[in-house]
Amino acid sequence: MSILPNQGNGKITVPDLMQRKAFAANSTSKKITCLTAYDYPTARLMDEAGVDVVLVGDSVAMVALGYESTLPLTLEEALHHTKAVRRGVQRALMVADMPYGSYHGEINEALRNAMRFVKEAGAEAVKVEGGERRLELIARLTEAEIPVMGHVGLTPQSVNALGGYRVQGKTPGTADQLLRDARSVEAAGAFAIVLEAIPRELAAEITCAVRIPTIGIGAGPDCDGQVLVLHDMLGLTFQEAPKFARRYANVGEMISKAVREYCADVESGGFPTDAESYHATATVKGHKTIPIAR
Ligand code: KIV
Repeated sequence: MSILPNQGNGKITVPDLMQRKAFAANSTSKKITCLTAYDYPTARLMDEAGVDVVLVGDSVAMVALGYESTLPLTLEEALHHTKAVRRGVQRALMVADMPYGSYHGEINEALRNAMRFVKEAGAEAVKVEGGERRLELIARLTEAEIPVMGHVGLTPQSVNALGGYRVQGKTPGTADQLLRDARSVEAAGAFAIVLEAIPRELAAEITCAVRIPTIGIGAGPDCDGQVLVLHDMLGLTFQEAPKFARRYANVGEMISKAVREYCADVESGGFPTDAESYHATATVKGHKTIPIAR
């Protein structure tokens, strides 16, 4: 067994990511890249493109399953998507988001649910939302050898309690609370922490205050890494994307254009052509033919 965090085969591990933070001070460390994936092809494409962390986010509820929020996502649905992503990821670290309700009750039940992500779906870590309130949970999961990624700031599973999807930590009091939350998550044993929709100044302060890597989404450029929802960056969502979600492609428009062209070709008889058809190579009695697939 290797004692080096990087096993030399390019596989990203939890110790690798923590190491990136340790080196950040001497600026030789590369920022951590993270994207969400919910299915085999996108997971495989992003893994092969070199992303460090693939997160099976509970955002799957809204962007891939069409729910109004992340709250209705069930444990079984999250496991189903995590298994599909697992089959596409070889190099990146694969983290599974625990859905709302799967870790909010009794700790032993949360532990059993987290273990299902590891044992049944092949997750290498789980992510849970919340700060100080999750101290005991994160400690128990870590104790059970399940690496935990924390998530503070705008936590979408708290949408009803927060009164909407709003930037968090803008006042001195709420900023202090978020700093305490991040410190608690670290103290409980999390290996990294997502900072969502908070002022960049606060994200920079938290990044300096904790020894684990911070991964920002709408938290400015001073975090140790960045995460985006894949469908936002690809232009594959139906609502206006938040201002931090830079659009790298317009895949929604590409799909619409391709589907319109296909429909027009079928309707006009332009698809399929003879070259796109199979041909009979032998005839038997009467007019019956034996088609040979090519
Ligand atoms: O579910 C998700 O996509 C997330 C990211 C936004 C961090 O939690």
